[in-house]
Amino acid sequence: MAGRMDGRVALVTGGASGIGRGCCLRFAEEGAAVMVADVNGERAEAVVGEIIALGGRADSVVVDTSSAESVDAMVTATVSAFGKVDACVAAAGISHAGYVSREIEDQRGQDRMDRDDMLMLDKSIESWRRVLDVNLTGVMLTDTAVARQIAKQGDGGTIVNIASVAAMTALTGSADYCVSKAGVWMLTKCLSLELARHKIRVNAVGPGYIKTSMSGAAVSYDKWVSARVRETPLRRLGEPVDIANACLFLSNDESSFVTGEIIFPDGGVTAAWRA
Ligand SMILES: NC(=O)c1ccc[n+]([C@@H]2O[C@H](COP(=O)([O-])OP(=O)(O)OC[C@H]3O[C@@H](n4cnc5c(N)ncnc54)[C@H](O)[C@@H]3O)[C@@H](O)[C@H]2O)c1
Repeated sequence: MAGRMDGRVALVTGGASGIGRGCCLRFAEEGAAVMVADVNGERAEAVVGEIIALGGRADSVVVDTSSAESVDAMVTATVSAFGKVDACVAAAGISHAGYVSREIEDQRGQDRMDRDDMLMLDKSIESWRRVLDVNLTGVMLTDTAVARQIAKQGDGGTIVNIASVAAMTALTGSADYCVSKAGVWMLTKCLSLELARHKIRVNAVGPGYIKTSMSGAAVSYDKWVSARVRETPLRRLGEPVDIANACLFLSNDESSFVTGEIIFPDGGVTAAWRA
C-alpha cells in the first residue's frame, strides 16, 4: 500500500525526543525519508537507528535552532543527504517554567508555579530570552530557512509548527512559555500568507498534555497526572503519536487546502476555553 509521504523528504527539529521523535517515526512509516535534527546528536542517532531497523530511510544532524548559522547548516545537510526538503515539523522547544510540571513541588510544600523566580517580577532576563530564543525565534529561523529551500525547488511543500494549548490560555509562572507559543501561532498565520505564493502551506499544532520527557517528571507524579486527566474531557494524557498524526495530516495532500490553521490535539482541553 502506498504511504502518505512516499517520495517526500521530511525535516523534524526536536526529532530526538517526545513529539518530534513521534513525528519522525510516523512520517517514516508513511514513506518519508526523515532528517532527525536535534541539539542532542546521540539521541537523534538513536532515532535514526529505530527508523532504519523498521526499513525506513533517515539521517541525523546536530542543530541549535536558536542559531541562524546552525539552522542554515541543518537545511544544507538535509539537501546533501536526500536532495531536497518537502516537509518540516518545527518541534524543538524548551520549558524553563515547565507549565506541565505544575504542582510537582507540592510534595515539598510549595507549588513550583508560584515560586518567586517563576513569576515575571523576579524571572531572570536570561531565562526569558532563552525560552523566546528557542521556542519562537528558533521556529522562525527554521521556517524561513526551510521555506527558502522549498521555494528554490519550485514544487511547494509544508511546514508544521508545534505550538501548545498554552498559546491560548494564560498560566501563572509560565509567561515566557505562553508568549512564545502564542507567537508561534501568529507566526504561522503570517507566514501562511507570505509563503502561499511559493505553494508552501504553513500550519500549527497545539498539543494538550502529552507524555514526553518535557513532562517526564510531572508524569511520574500521580497527583499531577490525575489533575491533568480530570482537566481533559477524553480522560487521558496524550501520546506523541496523537500529535504526530495531526502533523502527518497537515504534511500531506489530504490537507491540500489547509493553511494558516491550528489544530489542537488536546483531548478536548481547549474546547471549554473557545468562543
Ligand atoms: N509535552 C507536552 O505536554 C507538550 C504540550 C504542548 C506543547 N509541547 C511542545 O512540543 C514540542 C516538543 O516537546 P516534547 O514534549 O516532545 O519535549 P521533549 O523534551 O521530549 O523534546 C524536545 C526536543 O527538542 C530538543 N531541543 C531543545 N532545544 C533545542 C534547540 N535549541 N535546538 C534543537 N533541538 C532542541 C531537545 O533536545 C529534545 O529532543 C515543544 O515545542 C513543546 O513546547 C509539548
